[in-house]
This record gives sequence, structure tokens and C-alpha cells, in this order.
Amino acid sequence: MTHKRENWSSNFGFIMAAASSAIGLGNLWKFPYMTGMNGGAIFLIIYLVFIILLGIPILLSEMAIGRNTQLNPLGAYKKINKKWSFVGAIGILCSFIILSYYSVIGGWVIKYIVSFISGSKIKDSFTYFENFVSQPLEPILWHLLFMIITVSIVTFGISKGIERISKIFLPALLFLILIVAIKSLSLPNSNEGLKFFIVPNFKGINSFNDFLNICLHAMGQVFFSLSLGMGALITYGSYLSKDTNLKKSAIIIPLLDTLFAILAGLAILPAVFAFGYKPQSGPGLIFQVLPAVFNSMNFGIIFGFMFFLVVFFAAITSSISLLEVVASFCIDTFKWSRRKSTFLPAFIMFLIGTFASLSFGPLKNTTLLNMNVFDIATFLSDKILMPLGGLFMCLFVGYVWGIKNISNEITNNGKLSFRLEPVFSILIKYIAPALILIIFITTLF
Ligand code: TRP
Repeated sequence: MTHKRENWSSNFGFIMAAASSAIGLGNLWKFPYMTGMNGGAIFLIIYLVFIILLGIPILLSEMAIGRNTQLNPLGAYKKINKKWSFVGAIGILCSFIILSYYSVIGGWVIKYIVSFISGSKIKDSFTYFENFVSQPLEPILWHLLFMIITVSIVTFGISKGIERISKIFLPALLFLILIVAIKSLSLPNSNEGLKFFIVPNFKGINSFNDFLNICLHAMGQVFFSLSLGMGALITYGSYLSKDTNLKKSAIIIPLLDTLFAILAGLAILPAVFAFGYKPQSGPGLIFQVLPAVFNSMNFGIIFGFMFFLVVFFAAITSSISLLEVVASFCIDTFKWSRRKSTFLPAFIMFLIGTFASLSFGPLKNTTLLNMNVFDIATFLSDKILMPLGGLFMCLFVGYVWGIKNISNEITNNGKLSFRLEPVFSILIKYIAPALILIIFITTLF
């Protein structure tokens, strides 16, 4: 029996869905603390440069592979060249790992929304956070809830589930984050945070090594934030109809994603400075520092609630893209129903995530090579599988599938122009692989 492959109902729907896959915890949780820890404006500038050098060409290539083959990542590589199927397999494995810990953090976000709804400010937010994440059971229940919500959207399929939810969530997200950013910028003493974010200050960079380190973090952030390197966009691209303009999508999606990262920076950094906190506090920034900020603000409960609601919307539309990668693989390969293809993998991810969650509490000290389960999961996905997936994809497109073939796909067989083809070719064949190889090797050691 052949299954009729689903399609996005329109190119607009696809762009909204792909943009909402990109915009997620990466923008709202990771980007502000990464910027905080890596020197502010300088990080921002390097990040923007890498979006252009790496992000756009890789995004374009992933979408082209997907649309050309109309298959999930593994099937897609296999169809073009059997020997390269392993790249697709890396991607599917990587989605498994990312979603299992992503949904743990998604669960924390729901917990914070509920805390704000219950009308009480979060007092003593540092201990509050520590106490919450170190409990064995409660975080797992929130993690389960987050996973259930993800599954229920993905089981509805492409245009009815993913596309519809993205079309509603993305504009809502933009609206909410704008309000929080405006509020944050209008706080007394917010200037300092704004300056930190947009005016480069070279004082913190004392050596070439410091600079290299910032570059490495910026590159990793580009991958994570644009959902690159593991086939999410191959999957989304595979539901595209043949007459869409891929180049346009490859510009609009990074633009929207970057817009959100910058708005998140504007919403968070000025507020952090205005209340006298330091932005270098790392991953706890939005869970520990921000509630303290909301706590000392008029209408803090409302702003806190709105902020975490934004984060939740963003996280859920990204987690569905992660689950969709695995689901599409099961649908194509095992010919399972969509329902089974989402439930079964999600259940396994939930179980793995349970260990990730416990590693903030009872399993904190159960480590391998000095990393607990959560650390291992993020290490494997962010530092190993994603860069490897991206690197192999560039090599695959540049040297195996070939620039001529991908160019045909991008121009819809010559119907559209592609004046930047020579630039694209240099980026994919030389610059992107070289840069990724540097991240990969340096971060590993
Ligand atoms: N880009 C998302 C974020 O910023 C996370 C994400 C979703 C992702 N799908 C992905 C990351 C695929 C890597 C690969 O939160």
C-alpha cells in the first residue's frame, strides 16, 4: 500500500512552521545567556556573520534535499546515494536525544507558568529553582505533560496539526515578546543592558583564544537555533510542493529567527542589568534571574506569566518539529500509522528524558566521564551529532549530490534565477565545512 504523502497547505504555512521550529528555547533561553556569557555585542555580531556564512546555505541545502526526495532524512540520503544514509541516521538519533531533554526544560516552563497563574510571585527565585529541579517526581510530571502536548499536536499531522498551530502561535509570540521587551527597555537603568547588548566592548577579549571561544559558541548557537544539522528541515522540506521558492524561505526563516533572538535579548538583558544582576549567570538566567526581576516589578506576576507563556509557545512549536523527524521516519520506513509513529518514539523519549530530569536531583552524582545524564545528552547532540550531521551534509551536497543538481532543485529546474550560485557553492564546499570542522575539533577538546 502506498501512503499519499502529506503537504503543507501553502508556502506561507511552511514558512510559519519552519520558523516556529527554529524559534524556541534556543532563542529565548539559550541565546540571552550565551550572549551574557560571551561578551555581549561581540557575540551578537559574530552570531550574525555565522547566520550568513553557515546558517543560510545549510538551511537552503536541507530544504532542497527534502523537497527533492520527498522523504524523511534517512530515506532522503539513501535515495540520492545509499552510502550516505548514515547521515540521515545521525539526524534521527539526534532528534531523539534533543527532544528527550528539550521536553524536560519545556516541563520547567509549564511549571513556571502555573506558578505565576496561581498568583504568587516567585520569592527567593534561586532556591526556588534549585528546590524544584532537584525533586524526583514533580519535574517528571511536568515533563510528561509537555510530551503529551507535543504528541497530541503531531498526531494531527502536517497541515491540520503542525501548520495550524504555528500560524496561531507565531504571531502571538511576536506580540507577547514585544510587550515584554518594551517593558524591559522602559525600566529605569535599562540602558546599561542595552549598551552591553549592542555596543561592542573589547575589554573582555584578552587573547585569540577568548575570541575563538566566542566564535565556537556562536557557531553552535546558529546550528541549534536554526534547527540545522539533523534533518528537521529535510523533513519539513519534504512536505513542500515543487513550485515553491526555496531561496525566499531560506532568507525569511533566518530573518524571523534572528528577530526573535534579538527581541529575547532586548527583553531579558536590560531587565537583568536594571535590577543589578549580572548576565553571566548561565543557563539559569531565565529561571533564576528573571523571576527575581519580575518579583521586584509592578505587575510582575502578569509579566512573568506572559514571558513564560511566550517561552512555552516557542518551545512547543520546536518540540513538534523534533518529534516530526522521527515520526516521518517511522511512517515512511515501517509504514506505521501516524498515531503509532508518534506515540511509540515519544514514549521512549519520555523515558530517556526521565533520567535527564533526575540528573538534577537524585541522579546528580551518577556520572560518566564527569557528566550526568543531562550533560551527556546535551554533549552528544550539541557537540557531536549536530556538527557532524552539518559537516557531512555540506560534503554530501558539495561533492556527492553536486552543486549542479542542488541548483536545479533550488531554481525549480531553471524556472527561477540563482545569481548567487557561485557564492553558495564556495560556502557549501569550502567555508562551511572548514568552520564546522574547527568547532567540532576545538569543542571536543
Ligand atoms: N531550534 C530550536 C530552538 O531554537 C530547537 C530545535 C528544534 C532544534 N528542532 C531542532 C535544534 C532540530 C536542532 C535541530 O529552540
